[in-house]
Amino acid sequence: LPTSSSPLSHPPPPSVILTQDELKKIAAYKAVEYVESGMVLGLGTGSTAKHAVDRIGELLKQGQLQNIVGIPTSKKTHEQALSLGIPLSDLDSHPVLDLAIDGADEVDPHLNLVKGRGGSLLREKMVEGACKKFVCIVDESKLVKHVGGSGLAMPVEIVPFCWKFTAKKLQDLFEYAGCVGKLRTFVENGKPFVTDNGNYIVDLYFQKDMGDLKAASDAILQLPGVVEHGMFLDMATTVIVAGELGITFISV
Ligand code: 5RP
Repeated sequence: LPTSSSPLSHPPPPSVILTQDELKKIAAYKAVEYVESGMVLGLGTGSTAKHAVDRIGELLKQGQLQNIVGIPTSKKTHEQALSLGIPLSDLDSHPVLDLAIDGADEVDPHLNLVKGRGGSLLREKMVEGACKKFVCIVDESKLVKHVGGSGLAMPVEIVPFCWKFTAKKLQDLFEYAGCVGKLRTFVENGKPFVTDNGNYIVDLYFQKDMGDLKAASDAILQLPGVVEHGMFLDMATTVIVAGELGITFISV
Protein backbone atom coordinates (compact mmCIF):
# COMPACT_ATOMS: atom_id res chain seq x y z
CA LEU A 1 0.00 0.00 0.00
CA PRO A 2 1.27 3.48 -0.69
CA THR A 3 2.35 5.42 2.36
CA SER A 4 3.03 9.09 2.83
CA SER A 5 6.62 8.37 1.78
CA SER A 6 5.55 6.48 -1.40
CA PRO A 7 2.91 8.59 -3.09
CA LEU A 8 0.78 7.11 -5.87
CA SER A 9 2.30 7.82 -9.25
CA HIS A 10 -1.23 7.81 -10.75
CA PRO A 11 -3.69 9.24 -8.24
CA PRO A 12 -7.16 7.64 -8.47
CA PRO A 13 -9.70 9.62 -10.50
CA PRO A 14 -12.14 11.64 -8.42
CA SER A 15 -14.93 9.24 -7.43
CA VAL A 16 -18.11 9.67 -9.43
CA ILE A 17 -21.36 9.29 -7.54
CA LEU A 18 -23.99 7.80 -9.82
CA THR A 19 -27.60 8.88 -9.48
CA GLN A 20 -30.27 6.32 -8.65
CA ASP A 21 -31.56 6.59 -12.21
CA GLU A 22 -28.10 5.92 -13.63
CA LEU A 23 -27.87 2.78 -11.47
CA LYS A 24 -31.30 1.68 -12.72
CA LYS A 25 -30.11 2.14 -16.28
CA ILE A 26 -26.95 0.10 -15.66
CA ALA A 27 -29.03 -2.81 -14.27
CA ALA A 28 -31.49 -2.54 -17.17
CA TYR A 29 -28.82 -2.55 -19.88
CA LYS A 30 -27.12 -5.54 -18.26
CA ALA A 31 -30.41 -7.46 -18.31
CA VAL A 32 -30.96 -6.71 -21.99
CA GLU A 33 -27.73 -8.62 -22.68
CA TYR A 34 -29.84 -11.74 -21.97
CA VAL A 35 -32.18 -10.91 -24.87
CA GLU A 36 -31.73 -12.88 -28.09
CA SER A 37 -33.36 -12.49 -31.49
CA GLY A 38 -36.61 -14.43 -31.83
CA MET A 39 -37.52 -14.21 -28.15
CA VAL A 40 -40.97 -13.54 -26.73
CA LEU A 41 -40.32 -10.97 -24.01
CA GLY A 42 -42.23 -9.74 -21.00
CA LEU A 43 -41.80 -5.97 -20.84
CA GLY A 44 -41.91 -4.61 -17.30
CA THR A 45 -43.25 -1.37 -15.89
CA GLY A 46 -41.60 1.43 -13.92
CA SER A 47 -38.62 3.73 -14.20
CA THR A 48 -36.07 0.87 -14.22
CA ALA A 49 -37.93 -1.32 -16.72
CA LYS A 50 -38.39 1.73 -18.94
CA HIS A 51 -34.63 1.80 -19.56
CA ALA A 52 -34.72 -1.88 -20.60
CA VAL A 53 -37.60 -1.29 -23.03
CA ASP A 54 -35.79 1.74 -24.49
CA ARG A 55 -32.66 -0.38 -24.98
CA ILE A 56 -34.59 -3.22 -26.65
CA GLY A 57 -36.16 -0.67 -29.01
CA GLU A 58 -32.74 0.77 -29.77
CA LEU A 59 -31.19 -2.64 -30.54
CA LEU A 60 -34.14 -3.52 -32.79
CA LYS A 61 -33.74 -0.26 -34.66
CA GLN A 62 -30.02 -0.91 -35.12
CA GLY A 63 -30.77 -4.42 -36.41
CA GLN A 64 -28.82 -6.03 -33.56
CA LEU A 65 -32.04 -7.78 -32.44
CA GLN A 66 -34.66 -9.25 -34.77
CA ASN A 67 -38.05 -10.93 -34.53
CA ILE A 68 -38.73 -9.89 -30.96
CA VAL A 69 -42.29 -10.09 -29.66
CA GLY A 70 -43.04 -8.01 -26.56
CA ILE A 71 -45.81 -8.60 -24.03
CA PRO A 72 -46.26 -5.38 -22.02
CA THR A 73 -47.20 -5.45 -18.33
CA SER A 74 -49.13 -2.16 -18.38
CA LYS A 75 -50.84 0.30 -20.69
CA LYS A 76 -47.94 2.69 -20.14
CA THR A 77 -45.35 0.14 -21.26
CA HIS A 78 -47.62 -0.81 -24.17
CA GLU A 79 -47.52 2.82 -25.34
CA GLN A 80 -43.76 3.11 -24.82
CA ALA A 81 -43.07 -0.11 -26.75
CA LEU A 82 -45.41 0.93 -29.57
CA SER A 83 -43.61 4.26 -29.89
CA LEU A 84 -40.31 2.39 -30.20
CA GLY A 85 -41.63 0.06 -32.90
CA ILE A 86 -41.40 -3.10 -30.77
CA PRO A 87 -43.84 -5.71 -32.16
CA LEU A 88 -46.40 -6.54 -29.46
CA SER A 89 -48.66 -9.42 -28.59
CA ASP A 90 -50.44 -10.85 -25.53
CA LEU A 91 -50.66 -13.92 -23.30
CA ASP A 92 -53.62 -15.30 -25.27
CA SER A 93 -51.39 -15.65 -28.35
CA HIS A 94 -48.13 -16.36 -26.47
CA PRO A 95 -48.89 -18.23 -23.23
CA VAL A 96 -45.19 -19.07 -22.69
CA LEU A 97 -42.56 -16.33 -22.74
CA ASP A 98 -38.80 -16.75 -22.99
CA LEU A 99 -37.80 -13.93 -20.70
CA ALA A 100 -39.25 -11.03 -18.72
CA ILE A 101 -37.31 -8.02 -17.45
CA ASP A 102 -38.85 -5.88 -14.74
CA GLY A 103 -38.02 -3.81 -11.69
CA ALA A 104 -39.13 -4.26 -8.09
CA ASP A 105 -39.76 -2.21 -4.98
CA GLU A 106 -38.11 -4.65 -2.56
CA VAL A 107 -35.84 -7.67 -3.02
CA ASP A 108 -34.79 -10.04 -0.25
CA PRO A 109 -31.80 -12.44 -0.31
CA HIS A 110 -34.11 -15.33 -1.32
CA LEU A 111 -35.31 -13.44 -4.42
CA ASN A 112 -38.72 -12.71 -2.95
CA LEU A 113 -39.97 -9.40 -4.27
CA VAL A 114 -42.49 -6.72 -3.49
CA LYS A 115 -43.85 -5.11 -6.63
CA GLY A 116 -46.73 -2.85 -7.51
CA ARG A 117 -45.91 0.52 -6.00
CA GLY A 118 -46.30 1.64 -9.62
CA GLY A 119 -49.70 -0.04 -9.68
CA SER A 120 -49.14 -2.73 -12.34
CA LEU A 121 -48.80 -5.78 -10.12
CA LEU A 122 -51.60 -7.88 -11.63
CA ARG A 123 -50.42 -7.77 -15.24
CA GLU A 124 -46.82 -8.07 -14.05
CA LYS A 125 -47.63 -11.21 -12.09
CA MET A 126 -49.56 -12.74 -14.99
CA VAL A 127 -46.82 -12.03 -17.53
CA GLU A 128 -43.85 -12.83 -15.31
CA GLY A 129 -45.52 -15.99 -14.07
CA ALA A 130 -45.66 -17.20 -17.68
CA CYS A 131 -41.93 -16.71 -18.34
CA LYS A 132 -39.18 -19.30 -18.48
CA LYS A 133 -36.83 -16.68 -17.00
CA PHE A 134 -37.65 -13.56 -15.03
CA VAL A 135 -34.74 -11.16 -14.62
CA CYS A 136 -35.43 -8.52 -12.01
CA ILE A 137 -33.48 -5.27 -12.22
CA VAL A 138 -32.91 -2.94 -9.28
CA ASP A 139 -30.59 -0.37 -7.82
CA GLU A 140 -29.15 -1.31 -4.45
CA SER A 141 -31.67 0.81 -2.49
CA LYS A 142 -34.26 -1.93 -3.15
CA LEU A 143 -32.42 -4.61 -1.14
CA VAL A 144 -34.11 -5.58 2.14
CA LYS A 145 -33.67 -8.35 4.72
CA HIS A 146 -37.37 -9.29 4.70
CA VAL A 147 -39.91 -8.22 2.10
CA GLY A 148 -42.90 -6.44 3.59
CA GLY A 149 -40.93 -5.53 6.69
CA SER A 150 -39.48 -2.26 5.42
CA GLY A 151 -42.35 -0.12 6.73
CA LEU A 152 -43.15 0.77 3.11
CA ALA A 153 -46.24 -0.18 1.14
CA MET A 154 -47.14 -3.76 0.23
CA PRO A 155 -49.79 -3.22 -2.46
CA VAL A 156 -52.94 -5.31 -2.85
CA GLU A 157 -55.22 -4.88 -5.88
CA ILE A 158 -58.89 -5.13 -4.89
CA VAL A 159 -62.22 -4.66 -6.65
CA PRO A 160 -63.83 -1.23 -6.08
CA PHE A 161 -67.12 -2.80 -4.86
CA CYS A 162 -67.26 -2.20 -1.07
CA TRP A 163 -63.53 -1.55 -0.96
CA LYS A 164 -63.66 -0.45 2.70
CA PHE A 165 -64.97 -3.89 3.63
CA THR A 166 -62.09 -5.61 1.82
CA ALA A 167 -59.50 -3.16 3.19
CA LYS A 168 -60.74 -3.87 6.75
CA LYS A 169 -60.55 -7.63 6.16
CA LEU A 170 -56.96 -7.25 4.95
CA GLN A 171 -56.03 -5.16 7.97
CA ASP A 172 -57.68 -7.65 10.35
CA LEU A 173 -55.78 -10.51 8.76
CA PHE A 174 -52.49 -8.97 9.87
CA GLU A 175 -53.59 -7.39 13.15
CA TYR A 176 -50.77 -9.34 14.88
CA ALA A 177 -48.25 -7.40 12.74
CA GLY A 178 -49.80 -3.96 13.39
CA CYS A 179 -50.98 -3.72 9.79
CA VAL A 180 -52.60 -0.52 8.52
CA GLY A 181 -54.28 -0.54 5.10
CA LYS A 182 -54.65 2.68 3.11
CA LEU A 183 -56.51 3.16 -0.14
CA ARG A 184 -54.10 4.53 -2.76
CA THR A 185 -55.29 7.97 -3.87
CA PHE A 186 -54.00 10.85 -5.97
CA VAL A 187 -52.42 13.59 -3.83
CA GLU A 188 -53.86 16.31 -6.11
CA ASN A 189 -57.55 15.47 -5.74
CA GLY A 190 -57.87 12.59 -3.25
CA LYS A 191 -59.52 10.39 -5.89
CA PRO A 192 -58.72 6.66 -5.84
CA PHE A 193 -55.91 5.44 -8.04
CA VAL A 194 -57.48 3.09 -10.61
CA THR A 195 -55.36 0.28 -12.09
CA ASP A 196 -55.24 -0.68 -15.78
CA ASN A 197 -57.81 -3.33 -14.87
CA GLY A 198 -60.29 -0.86 -13.34
CA ASN A 199 -59.49 -1.85 -9.74
CA TYR A 200 -58.29 -0.06 -6.60
CA ILE A 201 -55.11 -0.58 -4.60
CA VAL A 202 -54.87 -0.86 -0.84
CA ASP A 203 -51.34 -0.37 0.44
CA LEU A 204 -50.58 -2.40 3.55
CA TYR A 205 -48.08 -1.02 6.06
CA PHE A 206 -46.67 -3.42 8.65
CA GLN A 207 -45.24 -2.41 12.03
CA LYS A 208 -43.87 -5.91 12.58
CA ASP A 209 -42.78 -8.73 10.33
CA MET A 210 -45.77 -10.45 8.70
CA GLY A 211 -44.15 -13.86 9.32
CA ASP A 212 -44.40 -16.72 6.85
CA LEU A 213 -44.70 -15.13 3.41
CA LYS A 214 -46.37 -18.08 1.69
CA ALA A 215 -49.01 -18.29 4.44
CA ALA A 216 -49.57 -14.52 4.20
CA SER A 217 -49.89 -14.76 0.42
CA ASP A 218 -52.43 -17.59 0.63
CA ALA A 219 -54.47 -15.79 3.28
CA ILE A 220 -54.67 -12.58 1.22
CA LEU A 221 -55.69 -14.42 -1.94
CA GLN A 222 -58.47 -16.24 -0.10
CA LEU A 223 -60.28 -13.00 0.73
CA PRO A 224 -63.19 -12.31 -1.62
CA GLY A 225 -62.66 -8.88 -3.18
CA VAL A 226 -58.90 -9.32 -3.49
CA VAL A 227 -57.62 -9.60 -7.04
CA GLU A 228 -53.85 -9.97 -6.45
CA HIS A 229 -51.08 -8.83 -4.12
CA GLY A 230 -47.60 -7.47 -4.71
CA MET A 231 -45.54 -10.26 -3.13
CA PHE A 232 -43.74 -12.11 -5.92
CA LEU A 233 -42.51 -15.29 -4.23
CA ASP A 234 -40.31 -17.80 -6.08
CA MET A 235 -40.76 -15.97 -9.37
CA ALA A 236 -37.51 -14.14 -10.15
CA THR A 237 -34.78 -16.39 -11.54
CA THR A 238 -32.06 -13.70 -11.38
CA VAL A 239 -31.85 -10.29 -9.76
CA ILE A 240 -29.38 -7.78 -11.18
CA VAL A 241 -28.42 -5.18 -8.60
CA ALA A 242 -26.57 -2.04 -9.64
CA GLY A 243 -24.69 -0.27 -6.88
CA GLU A 244 -21.91 2.23 -6.42
CA LEU A 245 -19.37 -0.61 -6.38
CA GLY A 246 -20.65 -2.33 -9.50
CA ILE A 247 -23.16 -4.97 -10.54
CA THR A 248 -24.15 -7.95 -8.39
CA PHE A 249 -26.15 -10.97 -9.55
CA ILE A 250 -28.42 -12.88 -7.19
CA SER A 251 -29.64 -16.19 -8.62
CA VAL A 252 -31.63 -19.14 -7.36
C1 5RP B 1 -44.74 -1.39 -10.94
C2 5RP B 1 -43.62 -2.11 -10.31
C3 5RP B 1 -42.25 -1.55 -10.51
O1 5RP B 1 -41.45 -2.54 -11.06
C4 5RP B 1 -41.71 -1.15 -9.18
O2 5RP B 1 -42.60 -0.23 -8.60
C5 5RP B 1 -40.32 -0.53 -9.33
O3 5RP B 1 -40.43 0.70 -9.95
P1 5RP B 1 -39.17 1.58 -10.32
O4 5RP B 1 -38.37 0.81 -11.32
O5 5RP B 1 -39.76 2.85 -10.89
O6 5RP B 1 -38.39 1.84 -9.07
O7 5RP B 1 -43.77 -3.10 -9.65
O8 5RP B 1 -45.96 -1.98 -10.62
